[in-house]
Amino acid sequence: MQMTVYQNLIRWFLLWVLGVLLLGGRLAFAGQSPAEVSQMLKAMADPAGAPFYPIVMQILQVLTWALHIVVVWTSVGGLLYAIYGFMRKEENHQRLARAMLELAKVSVSLAIVLGVAPLLFYQVIYDPLWYASANLSASWYVMFIVFLLIGYYLIWFAYFRRQNSTQAMVFSIGGVVFLLLVGFIIHAVNYQALYPEKWVEWYTSGGITMNHSGWNIYAFNIFRYLSLLVFPAVATTGIFMMLYAWYFGTRREEFPQEYINFSARLGSKLALYGGAGWIVFHILYILTVPSEWNAKGSIFTWLSVLGLLLCASIIFIAQKNPVRMAVTSLVGGVVAIITVAIFREYLRVASAGRFGYSIYEYKLNLEWLSPMLFFGTLLTGLVLYAYAWWMAYKAGRTPKGQVYQASETEHHLGEASVFVVVLWAVVFIGVGLIVIARNYL
Ligand code: HEM
Repeated sequence: MQMTVYQNLIRWFLLWVLGVLLLGGRLAFAGQSPAEVSQMLKAMADPAGAPFYPIVMQILQVLTWALHIVVVWTSVGGLLYAIYGFMRKEENHQRLARAMLELAKVSVSLAIVLGVAPLLFYQVIYDPLWYASANLSASWYVMFIVFLLIGYYLIWFAYFRRQNSTQAMVFSIGGVVFLLLVGFIIHAVNYQALYPEKWVEWYTSGGITMNHSGWNIYAFNIFRYLSLLVFPAVATTGIFMMLYAWYFGTRREEFPQEYINFSARLGSKLALYGGAGWIVFHILYILTVPSEWNAKGSIFTWLSVLGLLLCASIIFIAQKNPVRMAVTSLVGGVVAIITVAIFREYLRVASAGRFGYSIYEYKLNLEWLSPMLFFGTLLTGLVLYAYAWWMAYKAGRTPKGQVYQASETEHHLGEASVFVVVLWAVVFIGVGLIVIARNYL
């Protein structure tokens, strides 16, 4: 009896040792070598290569992301201020809160539309990064849409109830919470994409399982989140308030001077404090970038800090006369955003570069028709919007009760924009018909 217990114990121990030696060693995750990560990335890239010069797509990706993120910032920042403004009793705060709620509502719809462009460029030139990371947190990523919808509806509810400050405030709080959640998800997906050497480890929990639920968030960087979402949202909305005051200030009687000064001063303060936080967290984020990326001292990193400092100096000077400095502050803001957008893209290049992966080495499968259609559409859009925006700009500055009369040049611009849209439609539908005819005849 005694002997059997010992025998069993020894047997189980030996089996355990054998298991660890034979199976455990194989199953447990030993980490991938840089060469293996490089192989993995290259195997995941589309074998068809790039349909157009990757550098052009990269530039468009950076520019369209900058456009996308500006309106994301004015959505979040507009709501943050609206919540505060609705809590205050003073009429100026109440009025500005309603205006910023309107800004947030319009900005979300623009953010959605403008988010598509960087998404398309990103998935064409960085497909391994994008799809791998999106799949790691796939369920969250699906929820991105749901949360965005809920947030957007809440903002609309706030807008409909804007005359009732308590209700408008409550709905605005709901709206901003959901937008911040959406930002959290897209942040995690973008951030995880920068660590391809960890994907397999994350997915297999270190080699013991397979996490295919998609409900895991593997990486989050609070400094990056704050420096790419929360603080710039406050700063950008501040600059917007200054522009709002500048735009309506001199021309429209229903905007009293006192309200204009109030909005501009408040805007310049928000821009200053939001901007200070932005710089601090941007630098903190840079410090968390792993040193083996060789990115900390790069020219792009320095340029992003300098861009932010330049903008901050302008905003600092603008404190004295925020209305007069509104447009200069906008220029400073544009410089800051572009340099930050380039830095953000540079990090992706640096991260992938560790594994010898470069978008510039893609096989080029030049396909001229699609880019021609794309650039044609872009040009059409620019002509059309140049007209629409110019008219909106002029009409918005016309005193209440009057109708803006377009000049002769403006009429010609209108005709040109109608012509170019018709031409575009003919080419667009024509190309479609030719393709169908070629396929079937
Ligand atoms: C209004 C809600 C949204 C918020 C708050 C938001 C926020 C953000 C943030 C914070 C980032 C940067 C993340 C990081 O790098 O850490 C980002 C990037 C991005 N967003 Fe949005 N976003 C929103 C809506 C959308 C929508 C609807 C789309 C797609 C249609 C979209 C597409 C993208 C893409 C593709 C990127 C990455 C682009 C690149 O890496 O070049 N976003 N967004």
